[in-house]
Amino acid sequence: MNVLIIGAGYVGTTTGLIFAELGHSVTVIDVDQKKINDLQKGILFFYEPGLDTLLTKHIASGNITFEMDHQKAIKDNPLIFICVGTPQNQDGSANLDFLREASEFIGSNLYEYKIIVIKSTVPAGTSKQVKGWIEYTKKDPVSFDVLSNPEFLREGSALHDALYPDRIILGSENDQATALLQELYKGIKAPFIVTSPSAAELIKYTANSFLATKISFINEIAILCDKLHINVQDVAKGVGLDIRIGPLFLDAGIGYGGSCFPKDVLALIDTAKKNNVDLSILEKVHAVNENQPGYLLKKIKTRLISLSAKKIAVLGLSFKAQTDDIRQSPSLKIIKDLISEGAMVEIHDPVAKLPGDLMDKVFQKASAEEAMINADAILICTDWPHYKKIDWPDLKNKMKSPIVFDGRNMLDAAEMKSIGYIYEGIGCE
Ligand code: UDX
Repeated sequence: MNVLIIGAGYVGTTTGLIFAELGHSVTVIDVDQKKINDLQKGILFFYEPGLDTLLTKHIASGNITFEMDHQKAIKDNPLIFICVGTPQNQDGSANLDFLREASEFIGSNLYEYKIIVIKSTVPAGTSKQVKGWIEYTKKDPVSFDVLSNPEFLREGSALHDALYPDRIILGSENDQATALLQELYKGIKAPFIVTSPSAAELIKYTANSFLATKISFINEIAILCDKLHINVQDVAKGVGLDIRIGPLFLDAGIGYGGSCFPKDVLALIDTAKKNNVDLSILEKVHAVNENQPGYLLKKIKTRLISLSAKKIAVLGLSFKAQTDDIRQSPSLKIIKDLISEGAMVEIHDPVAKLPGDLMDKVFQKASAEEAMINADAILICTDWPHYKKIDWPDLKNKMKSPIVFDGRNMLDAAEMKSIGYIYEGIGCE
């Protein structure tokens, strides 16, 4: 099948490569010439395990090409996926400018029937807007369909999630278009759920907001656990075995970050407000998440009294492990607060790099061990598996004081204490 992907971002590139892996002929376009040039050479602009190999494989197989000739790309492909970004507006609503641009471009180059599929995360009802934008710009009286097919890829495990999804959601009102999309995904074994386009759009926001709610909920329970001297991991395990609740997304920590949860929670709040619906539960989810990095900082300040001129080693910069993405990373908030308290911060992350505004204020070390030498305390902000394998007994003697604040509860508290560390997690004192 010939498929066009508009937008060579994280979602577009990953989706394109998955379709190429399924044997389809994929063209990817983007307005960013450099991105396209790099992708043509097999260079990915983000870190995602396994994706670079797939890129090399399918550039060689010819199943994927990256192009700048947008008009030709629209003309040649009957099936068009829109994968452009929908960033957050100041008021929390989703910004649909890129989506509108893409829709109008499709409209002005539409000379025969096409199926247009929105993969970008968009508020319920957006497919109708896209239809309107295309309708308004098209020159010929040709027909087209707009479908919604949200993605549920997690950064760091995008390949696995795309090849073995829990479900494929398709918002479609046209049976023939539905059948074509079913054919496109034929190689993937997963429940295929067909809904209205608006329902598909809402499913995406509801899923992400529900997962964010689970995280904020367990984070508040963790604070209660600290007060009651109960281990939140025991509580989460006992609760998660109830199949109605499930064990995942119950890891207490410093809060959720990344390009999806924070943005999607706010966008759903915005949709509710615009429809005069009280979704204050999500406002609380957001507020808890905003405070969670500060909770760790409070623990540090209680223990160290003053942070002035103290050397703090921060392990992990990315918003979660297996990605170099630092967008909305709670680690960044913590580092900024540490600096404003007068601490000297040295950080380590295996792949993520410091953003420009922190480069001259923080030292990034090549190894976690280097960052930890002479430190007054260590802060774990991202659960990179390597941090479990650090030679903690050896490092203890190289630190100024052996204190570890584990913002991800990733180390064994009893073991750390038996080595001689003062160890504090979130909800597991
Ligand atoms: C998310 C959704 O999972 C995915 O389905 C969607 O399509 C895109 O957004 P992603 O942002 O890549 O994926 O990461 P995810 O693994 O969901 O984690 C999000 C954040 O929650 C991370 O900061 C993570 O550290 C945090 N988290 C996750 C917790 O704090 N506790 C948990 O138990 C789980």
